[in-house]
Amino acid sequence: MRDRTCLAIVLAAGEGTRMRSSRPKVLHAVAGRTLLGHVLAAVRAAGGARAAVVVGPGREDAAADARGALPDAEIFVQAERRGTAHAVLAAKAAIARGADEVLVIFGDTPLISADTLGKLRRAIAEGAAVAVLGFRPKDPKGYGRLVTDGDTLLSIVEEADASSEQLSIGLCNGGLMALAGPTALSVLERIGCDNRKREYYLTDAVGIARGMNLRAVALEVTEDEVSGINTKAQLAAAESVMQQRLRQAAMDSGVTLVAPETVHLSVDTKFGQDVTVEPYVVFGPGVTIEDGATIRSFSHLQGAQVGRNAIVGPYARLRPGAKLEADVHIGNFVEVKEATIETGAKANHLTYIGDARVGAGANVGAGTITCNYDGAAKHRTDIGAGAFIGSNSSLVAPVTVGDGAYVGSGSVITENVPSGALALGRGRQVVKEGWAQRLQSLKSLVNKKA
Ligand code: UD1
Ligand code: MG
Repeated sequence: MRDRTCLAIVLAAGEGTRMRSSRPKVLHAVAGRTLLGHVLAAVRAAGGARAAVVVGPGREDAAADARGALPDAEIFVQAERRGTAHAVLAAKAAIARGADEVLVIFGDTPLISADTLGKLRRAIAEGAAVAVLGFRPKDPKGYGRLVTDGDTLLSIVEEADASSEQLSIGLCNGGLMALAGPTALSVLERIGCDNRKREYYLTDAVGIARGMNLRAVALEVTEDEVSGINTKAQLAAAESVMQQRLRQAAMDSGVTLVAPETVHLSVDTKFGQDVTVEPYVVFGPGVTIEDGATIRSFSHLQGAQVGRNAIVGPYARLRPGAKLEADVHIGNFVEVKEATIETGAKANHLTYIGDARVGAGANVGAGTITCNYDGAAKHRTDIGAGAFIGSNSSLVAPVTVGDGAYVGSGSVITENVPSGALALGRGRQVVKEGWAQRLQSLKSLVNKKA
């Protein structure tokens, strides 16, 4: 297999109208990655394949997503939607350049595995001209049926064109196909549109190849792998399968998930050793959790790094650019964005830290807010090592609190605080001795008169 070349053509020109969305279907996400991104990741993981992605006209967003997932993917545009074979031929220039195997993959099948793509390639390497993935869905409605004789595939009949006898076949077309490179174009170019929908069906490749005395085979896989996503309900079902896979992988690598079914992961979530995740935690894209850290319940993390033995939550929110070093504590109702919290620093309650640095060992009291936004621009707050920010303080950025400095509770800090100083920025307290008693006697006087 190693010295064989492969071209993977990913069809992503579908409108996906049943998603009822302004976004193209393949740009919907599962576990923090687009459907197209998942397919291209499988292509990349299978190794050794050039990729061509076929997008609809004007779909720069889909093209950009494809390039993001696989920078050297070649993009082709299918000008009109005239069927799956027509879409494949939009990438004719790539096929003409030659490859031992041509894989055709639908951009809306995010659960396809690199392993299965490898099996399809192997079937071609072993002499088939066409190899098709078959599966046995619980409900075969809408799928093409595979007409087989042993492991030889005789033809694929689209549901709209099938006889009632053919409709009773349980083995359905998963849609993914591999073609032998040398004969691919001559097979594809013979496909016509003489069917109910007047579309160029890729599935006709099977009958045509057989007519050319070439061999076609079907490989059976599980339904998950080939289930194409057309609706939001199917998107949610794929999400659920993907989450189960990710949780299993996390636990296999040693992460303690106290209630795995309540934890939502992204494909790129990274865990160190001896990490504990309590129930109901969401990991958006781009999160790394280092050894020994604990993520407590109801926390939401995205684009964040959590250092060794740090404790996050319950009810914490780490937004992009949050970087917690070792032994940091971020407690309930604390939000951190674009900020580095250095070793051992703590912010345990009701706090917003944005565009900031909190030095090692600093203590940020309950209700502290870094006021980073003046309505036009964002500004930075720098809190020195060992500083103590009293509860309910507002730090109006840009502002610096020096190492070891103290800020009195309830302060509004608008000027830099030197190292070791105490800053107070609040109204001075006034005490009126005996005032309550005077009020009482005033009240009883008024009552007597009435
Ligand atoms: C297709 C198969 C069917 C199979 C099913 C599995 C054909 C003719 N039929 O049917 O046998 O059981 O998938 O899910 O192949 N696309 C384009 N341009 C087009 C048409 C389609 O890019 O002109 C893309 C779509 O974006 C999609 C894929 O090709 O990613 C499949 O098209 P779709 O319309 O979903 O085909 P099905 O009717 O589901
Ligand atoms: Mg489909």
